[in-house]
Amino acid sequence: MEKRQELYAGKAKSVYSTDDDDFVILCFRDDTSAFDGEKMEQLSRKGEVNNKFNAYIMEYLEKAGIPTHFESLLSANEALVKNMDMMPIECVIRNVASGSLCRRLGVKEGQELSPAIFEFFLKDDALHDPMINEYHIETFSWASKENVITMKELTFKVNILLKDLFSEAGMILVDYKLEFGVFKGKVVLGDEFSPDGCRLWDEKTRKKLDKDRFRQGLGGVIEAYEEVALRIGVTL
Ligand code: CDP
Repeated sequence: MEKRQELYAGKAKSVYSTDDDDFVILCFRDDTSAFDGEKMEQLSRKGEVNNKFNAYIMEYLEKAGIPTHFESLLSANEALVKNMDMMPIECVIRNVASGSLCRRLGVKEGQELSPAIFEFFLKDDALHDPMINEYHIETFSWASKENVITMKELTFKVNILLKDLFSEAGMILVDYKLEFGVFKGKVVLGDEFSPDGCRLWDEKTRKKLDKDRFRQGLGGVIEAYEEVALRIGVTL
């Protein structure tokens, strides 16, 4: 597969076209951002760790019946993925209260959420990714009704699979964000799954092992990402 020009540069990844219109290359950079891009830093090795972590998770999910855009690892920080039409929506599931849920509703961080809470956000940095619901999505045609149902179902299936995966490695999957696209008419999991887009706590000590280490200036960000990767069996 031949890498051609850069199509898009996001906050942490860049997308390149290839000689096949059905596929693009995702390049995981070391750039790390928080607060809609207000806090930005380069963290050495982050691109590589997230690329390998994401490949492991996507392959795990695909084997368990979740359609994903992942095709193959191309290099330490590049992956070949399906070229999808992305829906501008973030699907979040929360098993334990943290982050914006606590800020919005005044609940205490660490409260177990049963049943788990599902939320939609609009992917729009300028608007600070506002929370939306099915009605906004339908009225503004951000996704079809059927695709919304599928995204939600897949996000819940991922919760069962990944809660188990991380629990077996002594971690709590506190919350996570997924993004979906449409490829040849089918809803497919896109973007990435890495400690940049989820919260993971050590089961015993409740130590934060995810991007909150960066957001909150706790230090040891990449060391934590590497620890999570090694614990679930990713080869770094
Ligand atoms: O991260 P923040 O506290 O601002 O927002 P949240 O609504 O508590 O985030 C819920 C989950 O989605 C966390 O695991 C975030 O890392 C993830 N998220 C993300 O990956 N990208 C966003 N733009 C917003 C949230």
